[in-house]
Parts: sequence; structure tokens; C-alpha cells
Amino acid sequence: MSNWSHRHVLDLAAFSLADYATVLELAQRFRAMPVAGARKLPALQGRLMTSLFFEPSTRTRSSFELAAKRLSADVQSFSPSSSSLSKGESILDTARTYVAMGANVLVVRHRCAGVPQGLARDLDQAGESVAVLNAGDGLRSHPSQGLLDLFTLARHFNPELPTPEALRGKRIVIVGDVLHSRVARSNLWALTACGAQVVLCGPATLLPDAFSGFVDAPPPGLAADPVAQRGPIQVVRSLEEALPGADAVMTLRLQKERMHQHLLTSLDRYHQLYGLTHQRLALCGKPVPVLHPGPVNRGVELAGSLLDDPATSLVEEQVRNGIPIRMALLYLLAAKGASA
Ligand code: NCD
Repeated sequence: MSNWSHRHVLDLAAFSLADYATVLELAQRFRAMPVAGARKLPALQGRLMTSLFFEPSTRTRSSFELAAKRLSADVQSFSPSSSSLSKGESILDTARTYVAMGANVLVVRHRCAGVPQGLARDLDQAGESVAVLNAGDGLRSHPSQGLLDLFTLARHFNPELPTPEALRGKRIVIVGDVLHSRVARSNLWALTACGAQVVLCGPATLLPDAFSGFVDAPPPGLAADPVAQRGPIQVVRSLEEALPGADAVMTLRLQKERMHQHLLTSLDRYHQLYGLTHQRLALCGKPVPVLHPGPVNRGVELAGSLLDDPATSLVEEQVRNGIPIRMALLYLLAAKGASA
């Protein structure tokens, strides 16, 4: 853990290969912990994790809360509808209120890109030592999901040693609404860092050509790319072109709530062209796993029979892996002495 240098986890663009290796190694250790019996590790005893979710969530929030409890942290959560936000309190003042109550980690989700980053900067400037963990900001970033997807894939390719190297040279197809997906963006940083060959597939309205250059320059605020050489990103328009030779396929939810223009003719037409079915998956030429971050629109981006097929679907495995990944992140940010 000696080279871990992040005070916050905001965006995987800032992760080096060593950072991915550290998180995966810790997650593998936490995953091996017996679930029954001695369930809790004392690592975060006396520490407080507060979840500030300004946008709905099923998996991410519960997963962070369970992860914190398994490390013996105290857990507090905030719901915007019943809070003073409705009386006009700013997000920063809300966050500072929880910091004053002793929060050591704030897990933040917001529908606007940049909110967790802004909070981290303002709290740093105010001299607070609290860590901010981004649980999804707008379309921009969802680092814990990118890491749990990486962990799930690495475990699939090398169950004994799920390191970043397990992804090197693998053809990973990501299909669907890339434009509105913070999950896809975080996966692009993670997968290319590990040397995977990423193939993005979707209609031009949901997948602009420019995505092939997504990792070519570090995002604003990051002086240089911490990864020396990244795997390539290819943009293709049909599954018939994307799937042959694939090693894994990740489907994305059509984010209807974020679509403010008519980007699709119909959901039926979308399913015909881009919906993943057993028949389509056979184009890969060998058995390959299917991932989806959830929640799934059954029968739209993914056939229900494929989602429920335990021989192919890694969707529940992703949910399971989310807990040790979030334990690893909380441990790295909040355990006393973990970053020493
Ligand atoms: C994703 C999200 O909220 O970004 N879900 C999740 O965290 N598992 C993806 C989505 O909403 O489609």
C-alpha cells in the first residue's frame, strides 16, 4: 500500500497501473473473507462514512454502506428530499455539516458532473481532512463501478490472480448508450490503462465518433496521463462487426431520463439493432461473459433470458464484487495508517 497517494477518489483518469493493482489486490483479499462467522474487520473502527446521494441509487449506495459496515465503520446517510437542501442550503454547507459531525469519508453522487470534485477542492481549501469518494457525477465518472467491472473481468480471466495484467490484449466490447454513461467513461480509463482493446458499439446519436480519442488527453485538472501506454479504443456501428473475437461484452442501460432529444426511433428498433441476445452473442465465436452495471431494461439492451443465464451473465457477480471493491477504497482512504 506504500505508493497509494490519493486523498480522494474522484476519477479513474488519475489512476496509475499501480493504483489499479493495489485496489484489485486488496479487493481480492477482502473477497476471500468468510461472509458467515467473523464477518467484520476492525480496520475502520471509530471512523464515520456518510453517504450523500443527491440522485437515486439502489446498488451503489447499499454496497458502500455494507462495505463500510464490514470494516466496522459507522455509517450515516442523507436523503435530499427530507433535508435542509429544500430550504436552500448549499451542497457545500450540507457537506460541512456532516464533516462537523465527524465524517471521515463522504460518498457523493450528484446528477451534475463535477460536484464531488468541487466539494473535495472546497473542503481541502477549508483545511478539512475528510476524503471524498465519487459515487457517480452526471455523465462524467463512476470510479467504483469502473473498478468493480475491472475486478469482475480480471477474476473471470484469472480467478487466482486477478491483476490488471489479466486484461492485457483482451477484446472488450461495450455496447449501447455510451454518450450518457459515466460507467462507460470510467471503464474506458480503467480498461485502456490495463492494455485491453476496447470496442465501442452503438448508433451515432448515442456514440459519437470522437469517443475513439477519449483517453488521448488527460481531463482538465490533470497535468499528465499517469499511464504510459494505453490500449486502443475503436468505434463501430454494428454488433456484427464488434462481436467476432470478443472476450467479454458489457451492455449499458439506455439512459432515457438523460435523453432530452429524439435520439432513437423506437426501443423495438434499438433492440433489433443493438439488443444483446444468445443468438447475437454466438457471433463472438466462443463462450464469453456478459456484464451490465444495472439497472437493466430487460428486453431492450439485454434479453431477459441472457441476463438470467448463469453460464453467461456476470451481472450478479458484479454486484457481489462491488462490496470488496468499495471496502478496498474505503480502507485506502480512511484506515488510519493505510496510506503511510
Ligand atoms: C449506473 C449509474 O447510476 O451510473 N448504475 C450503477 O451505479 N450501478 C448505471 C445506470 O444508471 O445505468
